[in-house]
Amino acid sequence: MKVRILTEKELRRSISVNQEALAAIEEAFSWLAEGKATMPPIMHIEVPEYKGDVDIKSAYVLGLESFAVKLGAGFFENYRLGLPNSPAMMVVLSAKTGFAEAVLLDNAYLTDVRTGAAGAVVAKHLARASIESAGVIGAGAQGRYQMMGLKVVRDFKRLLAYDTDADRLAQYKQEMEPVLGVEVIAAADASEVVKESDAVVTSTPSRTPYLKPEWLHPGLHITAMGADLPDKQELDPEVLRLADLLVCDRKAQCFSMGELHHGLTTGILSEDSDITELGEITSGRAPGRQNDDQITLCDLTGTGVQDTAIACLALHKAIENGLGVEIDLGLP
Ligand SMILES: NC(=O)c1ccc[n+]([C@@H]2O[C@H](COP(=O)([O-])OP(=O)(O)OC[C@H]3O[C@@H](n4cnc5c(N)ncnc54)[C@H](O)[C@@H]3O)[C@@H](O)[C@H]2O)c1
Repeated sequence: MKVRILTEKELRRSISVNQEALAAIEEAFSWLAEGKATMPPIMHIEVPEYKGDVDIKSAYVLGLESFAVKLGAGFFENYRLGLPNSPAMMVVLSAKTGFAEAVLLDNAYLTDVRTGAAGAVVAKHLARASIESAGVIGAGAQGRYQMMGLKVVRDFKRLLAYDTDADRLAQYKQEMEPVLGVEVIAAADASEVVKESDAVVTSTPSRTPYLKPEWLHPGLHITAMGADLPDKQELDPEVLRLADLLVCDRKAQCFSMGELHHGLTTGILSEDSDITELGEITSGRAPGRQNDDQITLCDLTGTGVQDTAIACLALHKAIENGLGVEIDLGLP
């Protein structure tokens, strides 16, 4: 019995935000709706002495030979040691024996890819069929992966980007124009992005809601993916009230974190509100956007089933390309 070890560099050679990753993540959301996925709640471990935390996410999927357990970490003092702040990894387990098949030392690269691909799946079903302008608020890692994902499903012509850090915004423009092949306009503020765009992704770790209801317009799609902890929030909860179609990755999760959580605590939403899970749309059980005037909104908090899907695909591609080293466990 052998365990394959893959480094971030090898995983970057194996997988990216492309049609294949998008198809894998789309299928993963359908598994949720079809009741095939067993997905426990997120386990959260605080390490206050070192300003660190670890989130453990996983899902077993009926019929798959393997599944992943992800240890996603944020250690925010690591920069003092010259280290990245997200020493994350995924372990792929055999569904038959429970033994490890692979350790993917991805440093959150696979999370970035599966999240960018999830944004693409959302846009495929919820953004207008033809869009001119995309928008992104938060020009960090996800600001990049989300727009790479959006480009797979919508051929937008220009991108409005905003970040509170002007240097990061300038760097984003320089780096992403050649990657996306579109003009990137450094917006003066978040309001300009929302007012001028057909499809917007919010990708900041903001703890203060900044996106205002008065900026919304007919036909707009918003993917809010920055808030993945109970105290993170990007949207004024009134924005939730204005959405004609309100979607999320997993209700149970979004009700305790993400934007829907703030909708509940302010009384704008209840657990019985008309909210569609993304998997209901990808599996054909519920419609996505139905006309060009609807305002659509999706709250993504990130699910373990996405981690299993991306880990299995990445491992498969790495094996195909002969990447990684194998350790023999000395078992039959
Ligand atoms: N939903 C999911 O599945 C999922 C997956 C990965 C990351 N996340 C979350 O997405 C968020 C972004 O992650 P990242 O890896 O891109 O982080 P990052 O640090 O690389 O980028 C965040 C950017 O947002 C900017 N910013 C902060 N507050 C802002 C504000 N109010 N307005 C405009 N810009 C602002 C920062 O300057 C930075 O450039 C985090 O909260 C992260 O936890 C969610």
